[in-house]
Amino acid sequence: MKTHIFKVDINNIDNNVIVKAAEIIKSGGLVAFPTETVYGLGGDGLNPNAAKKIYSAKGRPSDNPLILHISDIGQLSPLVREIPENALKLAKEFWPGPLTMIFKKSDIVPNETSGGLDTVAVRFPVNKVAQALITASGTPIAAPSANTSGRPSPTRASHVEYDLNGKIDMIIDGGACKFGLESTIIDVTGNIPCLLRPGSITLEMLRSVLGEVNVDKAVVSKLDKGELPKAPGMKYKHYSPSADVVIVRGDRNKMVDKINELISQTDKGLKVGVIATEENKERYINCEVLVAGSIKEPETIAANLFKMLRKCDHHHIDRVFAEGLCEDELGLAIMNRLKKAAGYCIIEV
Ligand code: TXA
Ligand code: MG
Repeated sequence: MKTHIFKVDINNIDNNVIVKAAEIIKSGGLVAFPTETVYGLGGDGLNPNAAKKIYSAKGRPSDNPLILHISDIGQLSPLVREIPENALKLAKEFWPGPLTMIFKKSDIVPNETSGGLDTVAVRFPVNKVAQALITASGTPIAAPSANTSGRPSPTRASHVEYDLNGKIDMIIDGGACKFGLESTIIDVTGNIPCLLRPGSITLEMLRSVLGEVNVDKAVVSKLDKGELPKAPGMKYKHYSPSADVVIVRGDRNKMVDKINELISQTDKGLKVGVIATEENKERYINCEVLVAGSIKEPETIAANLFKMLRKCDHHHIDRVFAEGLCEDELGLAIMNRLKKAAGYCIIEV
């Protein structure tokens, strides 16, 4: 069975497509839809069977909880036991937008959706197609990224089709996702909020609203054996193309020299790629250069990163060297995804 794909113009949304998609959600089916971060694989967030279908379509372990997406702030309170002051402050500043907050869950959220945890992740996306679908469905939509578990998240409808064609009922194609990295996740259940996954709402932005914010160790470093991240999904191998990914970081000139040296040392039978910045793209030899964007525009690098990782597969690249970035502001989120793709293989220069 081929999954039906419907294109929508985000500036002129065809309501027939939204109604059709909402009917699927209401009857327990699955629809992939665009958000401003990445495409989501949506199902009725209050229907345990829909959650089971999501896990099965993605090949995702069922202890990895799903985010509930709402399209009106009034939908939050039935899902949670309390709304802490810090959550109100963040919602006022960043919702609708690429921020997910973790709350203590209410009883209406099924254990299947929350992966057995007593907390629930909630996000109010700003993308108009996502909002229209949630509103028309009349239920919070549970949606992980619409990729096969372990693969880079989809930022185009074609990525979803590649991974999930035939496994889900419908794909709404709303074009490329604006931010291209999954939402920032912050746990607001404790006294001091804790960043669990960095994203386009940066740590600096969160601290400017809340003051003190802790950072879960899993955000920047590989956990030791036996340690568990607070966001269960952060423990799984992620974002991986088939190629081996190696990050090289440090002084930007030395980095280019090191990457060229590593290319020259690579077995000639292997196809080599470099995920490069615009500024350095002419400087690599004997490899395929994948340009992510300018170092001066980290937003562009973020928006293109997953597409580049997917390109490695399409171009049959065996080993890819990625230019490392400084881990402040958006660089923290970009490096978090790259490090996972690289299995923390980082060469410092
Ligand atoms: O931008 C996004 O957040 C996208 C779009 C579709 O909204 N969704 C997304 O979902 O990235 P997913 O399932 O791929 O990643 C959700 C992450 C996982 O790492 C999961 O473990 C974590 O959120 N998570 C979900 N519920 C949680 C909870 N109650 N406590 C801690 N972490 C949670
Ligand atoms: Mg995901």
